[in-house]
Amino acid sequence: MALEIRLFTLADVPFGMLLTDAEEWFRVPADWARLVRLEPEGAFKAVVDGIPAGTAAILSFGRLAWIHSLIVHRDFRRRGVGEALLRACLDFADRRGIPCVKLDSVAGAEPFYARHGFAEEYPSWRLLADGQTGTPKAARMRRDDYPDVLAFDRAMTGLDRGRALRALLADSPDRAFVDREGGRVRGYALLRCGERRDPVGPCVADPDDPGVAADLLRSALAVSEGRKLRMCVGGYQEASLRIAEELGFARADHSKRMYRGEPFAESRACYAMISAEKG
Ligand SMILES: CC(C)(COP(=O)(O)OP(=O)(O)OC[C@H]1O[C@@H](n2cnc3c(N)ncnc32)[C@H](O)[C@@H]1OP(=O)(O)O)[C@@H](O)C(=O)NCCC(=O)NCCS
Repeated sequence: MALEIRLFTLADVPFGMLLTDAEEWFRVPADWARLVRLEPEGAFKAVVDGIPAGTAAILSFGRLAWIHSLIVHRDFRRRGVGEALLRACLDFADRRGIPCVKLDSVAGAEPFYARHGFAEEYPSWRLLADGQTGTPKAARMRRDDYPDVLAFDRAMTGLDRGRALRALLADSPDRAFVDREGGRVRGYALLRCGERRDPVGPCVADPDDPGVAADLLRSALAVSEGRKLRMCVGGYQEASLRIAEELGFARADHSKRMYRGEPFAESRACYAMISAEKG
């Protein structure tokens, strides 16, 4: 068997869709394209005897990077393809000196990641809700809010997520909300378009005033026009889980957050992740 790891490019998006559709990951082609553009040197494709066999990618946020999109086509599993793809992502992180790498492991795959130095952290919840119609309580985010919102995100999370946030905002500019008090940003939330379910996230808000996060999430629900929503919340974020459940979200399932390298405690201000695989 001849196994090669190559860069995954925009031309590979249809292959990526084939894999994510088979796993029912609710991805749309725009998600794959955005991920490739964000980290073109960190998106990989495995090729076995000339045939595309799997994908994996890593996205850097400065001192933390996320591995995501690791899928091996069913015909090629258990032949070391997954391991080679994971290795390519870890090499990317090591070359750049990124001290901590995280991922969300599906149930059953934890030993696979543990063999490569990952330790378990906590459950990473996926919550689902039926959308509603109503008037959003929080203000719509405008383009001139972006610099303050990005600075707020950096201050709250300790990470540089500006590139990823700008890319998400470019795709769904009309369903973003910001909470300001006297000009100061206290929180923001995005609702994006997805396949069958629209993802809510990120939602980042002042951790000392959970009312801000509740208003932002309520606003996202209000503009969902009856579509189904999903949201990913780290198990450490008890305030977020409580608010989401009060607003009608129900826990569906969870994966296991795992990290490798220096521990990095995620921010209490992060009420909803960008998505399970991207922080
Ligand atoms: C997880 C996945 C990428 C592994 O790919 P792979 O090419 O089969 O992996 P490798 O051949 O390099 O390694 C396989 C080893 O990983 C372990 N493993 C991987 N996934 C596992 C799972 N879901 N359950 C149990 N063991 C798993 C096995 O122990 C196996 O070792 P073995 O063959 O000695 O028993 C593949 O199963 C897959 O695409 N699954 C569906 C998508 C998915 O869940 N991705 C992971 C998201 S976190």
